[in-house]
Amino acid sequence: MEASAPSKGIFDSAHLEEREHVVELLCKAYWMEIETVMSYMAASVNLDGVRAQEIKESLDEDIDEELGHAKQFAQRIKELYGVVPGSEGFSAEQSFLQPPDEQTDIVHVIRGVIKAETGAIEHYTRLIEETESVDPVTQDMTIAILRDEQGHRRLFEGFLREYEVEGVV
Ligand SMILES: [Fe+2]
Ligand SMILES: [Fe+2]
Repeated sequence: MEASAPSKGIFDSAHLEEREHVVELLCKAYWMEIETVMSYMAASVNLDGVRAQEIKESLDEDIDEELGHAKQFAQRIKELYGVVPGSEGFSAEQSFLQPPDEQTDIVHVIRGVIKAETGAIEHYTRLIEETESVDPVTQDMTIAILRDEQGHRRLFEGFLREYEVEGVV
């Protein structure tokens, strides 16, 4: 009896379809991070007022983290023989994170951030589920990123809570 060749996992030619699917999911994740960088950058600069400072600083820190996530997703796309998409492939989805009418409207931004983080959490949870026993390396990377997003969301839920307690919203 001939021994079968060792499995190459996600790189196995028999798993081409799965690999292409993972690349698709990674491209969506990549665009989500890029759009989040754009939205957080705008909000971290636009907001006005004494109380906005904490939010601005927090968003400013997040920009670097989200950019780091985008880089990781891009690198993984490459490793899976995909191509990181060019800017023409981008289409915006964060309608809820456009600048508010009043730049002192902190609650609008906090709610937008929670929504963006929730969207990321949902997509990354799907990525983790769909890479289960298919591509453990992508899964492992995404689990670490998911934890960051859960932390971001929790932080902004805390900010929102403060405004709710005060009856501002
Ligand atoms: Fe992120
Ligand atoms: Fe995040």
